[in-house]
Amino acid sequence: MDSSLRSSLLFFIGALILAISLHPAVATTAAYPTTPGAGSGECSLAGGDDVIIPPRREVHGNGRIFDISHKYVPDMPVFESKDGLGYFLWLQHSMKNGSIANNSEMKIPTHTGTHVDAPGHVFDHYFDAGFDVDTLDLEVLNGPALLVDVPRDTNITAEVMKSLNIPRGVRRVLFRTLNTNRRLMFQTEFDTSYVGFMVDGAKWLAENTDIKLVGVDYMSVAAYDHLIPSHLAFLEGREIILVESLKLDDVPAGVYSLHCLPLRLVGAEGSPIRCILIK
Ligand SMILES: *[C@@H]1O[C@H](CO)[C@@H](O)[C@H](O)[C@H]1NC(C)=O
Ligand SMILES: *[C@@H]1O[C@H](CO)[C@@H](O)[C@H](O)[C@H]1NC(C)=O
Ligand SMILES: *[C@@H]1O[C@H](CO)[C@@H](O)[C@H](O)[C@H]1NC(C)=O
Repeated sequence: MDSSLRSSLLFFIGALILAISLHPAVATTAAYPTTPGAGSGECSLAGGDDVIIPPRREVHGNGRIFDISHKYVPDMPVFESKDGLGYFLWLQHSMKNGSIANNSEMKIPTHTGTHVDAPGHVFDHYFDAGFDVDTLDLEVLNGPALLVDVPRDTNITAEVMKSLNIPRGVRRVLFRTLNTNRRLMFQTEFDTSYVGFMVDGAKWLAENTDIKLVGVDYMSVAAYDHLIPSHLAFLEGREIILVESLKLDDVPAGVYSLHCLPLRLVGAEGSPIRCILIK
C-alpha cells in the first residue's frame, strides 16, 4: 500500500474510532427482549463517569434486518450433550499480561450453534471425495426465502409437507416449529424430543418441491428417531443444503432475502454459519 494512502486510511480509521467513542450512549434495542442478553449490555466497559455499552442487537436497520444466528455462549446446547458447549473461548494473549493486544482463541465442534451440513456429514464417499462446506453453493445460501410455521403438534412428515402447500419455484424455506416455542436452543441440556423431519417428509421435500435450502430451529433437520435416514434423504443428491439451529424467535412469517455465509473450512463437513433475513 502506498504510504500516503496508508496514512489517510489510518486517519480515517482514527476518526471513525473517535466518532464512535464520542457517542456516549450507543442505543441498545428493547424491541426483542425475549432473547436472553438482547440489549442488556452484558459486556460493558467502564470509562470514568461514562459507561460505554456496546450494542447487542437481534434486529438491525430499523426492524428490517433480523439476525437469525445464535450467539456462541458456554451454556448453549450441543448435540447429545447434557452439559452444553462449556468453556470454548480464552484470551491467549492479554493486555493485562503485557501483550500489545488482546487475542483470543477458541475450540468448538463444527456443528455447534447455527451451522450448515455438507454432504460429507453422512456420506463417507462424499467426505472422501471432498464435498466439504467450502464446496457449498453461495447462490443457494443467498436469495429469496420463505419462513413458514409448521403445525405445532407434529414432526415434519410427508403429510405435513403437503399441507404447507409450498409453491413450486420456492427454493429456500426456513421451518419454524414447536422447538422455537419450547426455546430449546436456549436450554443447555440436549433434548431428544425436538421436532424435525421424519424420513417420509424429507423424501417428499426432495422429490416434490424445488427447495434447495432447508432451515430448521434446532440442532438437526432430522427428528431424533430418524436421525440418519432423514439426513441421507436430504443430502444424497448433493443439491440440498441444510442449515440448522436457526434463531427464528420473534420474526414474522413471510418472504425475506436470506443471506447465509459459512466459513471456508476445507475438509470440514460442517461449519458455523452467520445467517440474516432482510425484509
Ligand atoms: C484486554 O484484555 C483484558 C484482560 O486481560 C480485558 O480486561 C480488557 O478489557 C481487554 N481490552 C480490550 C480493549 O478489549
Ligand atoms: C496471565 O498470565 C498468567 C501467568 O501465565 C496466567 O495464569 C493468567 O491466566 C494470565 N491472564 C490472562 C488474563 O491471560
Ligand atoms: C417428534 O419426534 C420425536 C422423536 O424423534 C418425539 O420425541 C417427539 O415427541 C415428536 N414431536 C411431536 C410434536 O410429535
